[in-house]
Amino acid sequence: MGAWTDGPRKEPAPCREADTGLFEVTSRDGRGRLGRLHTAHGILETPALLPVINPNIRTIEPREMWDRYGIGALITNSYIIWKHESLKEVATKEGVHTLLDYPGVIMTDSGTFQAYIYGDVEVGVEEIVEFQKSIGVDIATMLDVFSRPDMTEEQVAQCVKETIERAPASLSAAGPTMLNGPIQGGLFKHLRTQSAQGMGEFDFAIHPIGGIVPVMERHMYKDYAKIMLASIPYLPPNRPVHMFGCGHPMLFPMSIALGADLFDSAAYALFARDGRLLTPWGTQKIGTLVEWPERMPCVSAYTPEDVRAMAKDEKTALLARYNLEVTLSELDRCKQAIRDGTLWRLAERRSHQHPALREAFLWISTSPHNKKLDLQFLDELILDDRDAARDRDQNAGKWEDAWDWIVQSQESPRKGGEPWGGEDTHVRPHINAAKKALRNHWRPQNKSGRGSQEVLVAYGTSGPWRERLSDLMVRLEHHCPGLEVMIQTPIGLLPYSLEDLNPFTHIDGPQWLWRRRPNSLSIREELEHYGMGERRIILVDLLGDGIQSRAISALEQAGVLEGNEDVKVHTEPMEKEQREKAKLHLQRRHVADKMVLLLNMDAEDVELILEDSTFVVNRLGRVKNAILADGTHIVSPRLTDGGLSIADGGAKQIHAHRTTPLPLGFEQSEPEANLSKGPAWVVVNDDAEPFVRQGRNVFHGFILGCDGWISPGDGCLLVNQKGELIGHGISQCTPREMRDFRKGVAVKTRGGIK
Ligand code: GUN
Repeated sequence: MGAWTDGPRKEPAPCREADTGLFEVTSRDGRGRLGRLHTAHGILETPALLPVINPNIRTIEPREMWDRYGIGALITNSYIIWKHESLKEVATKEGVHTLLDYPGVIMTDSGTFQAYIYGDVEVGVEEIVEFQKSIGVDIATMLDVFSRPDMTEEQVAQCVKETIERAPASLSAAGPTMLNGPIQGGLFKHLRTQSAQGMGEFDFAIHPIGGIVPVMERHMYKDYAKIMLASIPYLPPNRPVHMFGCGHPMLFPMSIALGADLFDSAAYALFARDGRLLTPWGTQKIGTLVEWPERMPCVSAYTPEDVRAMAKDEKTALLARYNLEVTLSELDRCKQAIRDGTLWRLAERRSHQHPALREAFLWISTSPHNKKLDLQFLDELILDDRDAARDRDQNAGKWEDAWDWIVQSQESPRKGGEPWGGEDTHVRPHINAAKKALRNHWRPQNKSGRGSQEVLVAYGTSGPWRERLSDLMVRLEHHCPGLEVMIQTPIGLLPYSLEDLNPFTHIDGPQWLWRRRPNSLSIREELEHYGMGERRIILVDLLGDGIQSRAISALEQAGVLEGNEDVKVHTEPMEKEQREKAKLHLQRRHVADKMVLLLNMDAEDVELILEDSTFVVNRLGRVKNAILADGTHIVSPRLTDGGLSIADGGAKQIHAHRTTPLPLGFEQSEPEANLSKGPAWVVVNDDAEPFVRQGRNVFHGFILGCDGWISPGDGCLLVNQKGELIGHGISQCTPREMRDFRKGVAVKTRGGIK
């Protein structure tokens, strides 16, 4: 969004002709995405709000929307234009852009909503689309059949069926004009899914989610979330999703986090008419207000009292501007949150603003699909079993898939601190993703030596733990090689070998959070995931001096260390050679565990690759690079997020260890079913190969296949059709997105292999 201005704004430049109708994603945070929709009237940046313009009552002139607010698209109703001779004449002769005096993208609706309000409309299915095309709209809408929340299953099924049946005729009437294919299905999960799958098979440009106005009017936000999760995962991911009639800023963060790209708002004007102000936390009457809920530019010269004293039309116009400004500001916040990777947290914060929104948010993150996860942390969260029962009664299937759809698109690890948000923290999807990955991949060393029947759990302070623990770790490595050391973090146990891994290390919270003495039952439960459920737990408090001798004493008391050995452990300096050997082992384990966790590698392959590796460390002792005996640089642990960057030499080594066949399609598969198969491969076509070899990014449209376990943020290998390595990079998307998108970057290349 550009700055709000007083002067005229430049007319939009049309997109490249070949790009018309294409949508690309430029940045993402889970399912939230920043995108660009290419049209003849400019490239629309999403998420976007399309203000509703009633061509008969223009509360704010479309030209002002363009000039002052930089609004790139608006929506108006083609049925109203079609019905009013005077509007129809101008639109037909001079086009809808002239009728509205607006140079940007114009979307029109079809009359479906009028049919919902008034019972019927007298326009034909093809007729209304042809009319929209004839007046030059950028995005037309077919005449779908509105499904109301109070309808029976049979009635809703009929709406879904009829809408799908109208699709072919509508699309052929639209010709080259982009067409909206709305999703109906009332409150029925399976009908929403059926509608999404059915409509998704046709060549629509955008999929609005329809039939949600009464759901929002009645604050049925949990149903709103369910409708989204029953529809969006089943739509082609390369098409924007529009929430029909959703213009309340309070709903933006959650909606965008669940995959919405477009909103339209009549609310800014309708609410203004009866003196209501939109805010990100709900709606307020101007009634007796003394201060503005948010001090927006358009009211900087007025108090609420001044505005109350204005004439009706002037007041409405000013409050409409106020509402629009508030709405656009919240949209900007969402967009910045996507860039910062904090969108879910924004939705989480906003969920506290309205009880129905909170209920929706808790349903998404905890119930009923998420029961398999970490319930020991969630005793304060509501689990709405009645609701689960209703879903089952409706033969609705399970919701696990919807939650997995969110979790599998999360980038992990991420940069920056992870502010503690109470119990909600545990169910942030990227935290879920990180914990799941750790549990799937990390395993204790299979060493039989001393300590192999125990596990030392250190707790009590936040990180970094390296300085505090590194001497102890060297000693333990030498004296108790079988011992595993885990650190208790507020979101679960973290192996010492991964001690700098985000988000575990970066939880930003009060001291008591770290001081809490761990609960042995929940530790035991977690250890079971790693096959260490039978081991004896030795707890050590990290706070205070002498951690080394306290830990060793605890091991003595537990009988792990005994006899003359104890004296040595406490007092004798280790020989240099022993120290160096132990240090090298710890460094190797640090890198090896990251390769297993973050590159999906097989532990034995990693051992072979790193057999005689050495490590470059910085002055704080952190590993910077892993190097083979012949000088080949393999990988570099990243200091910012505890992640791992692959070097060209590492890509070659990893590529050589692959045993899985070349992926020929884009079938998504469970990460659990593909453990240890290595980082995903992306197969690039012959046209793109020379560019990738030079280190250029991989663009959509040049990909022939990818492994089903790839997800955004993953390191991946780039290969040609013969399976030869041509580069490596960071995936920007999921397998279905790799398959469907035609524009934008699919993999950010980090190295080309000449
Ligand atoms: N406006 C608000 N809801 C709807 C809907 O379901 N369909 C159409 N075409 N327009 C709408």
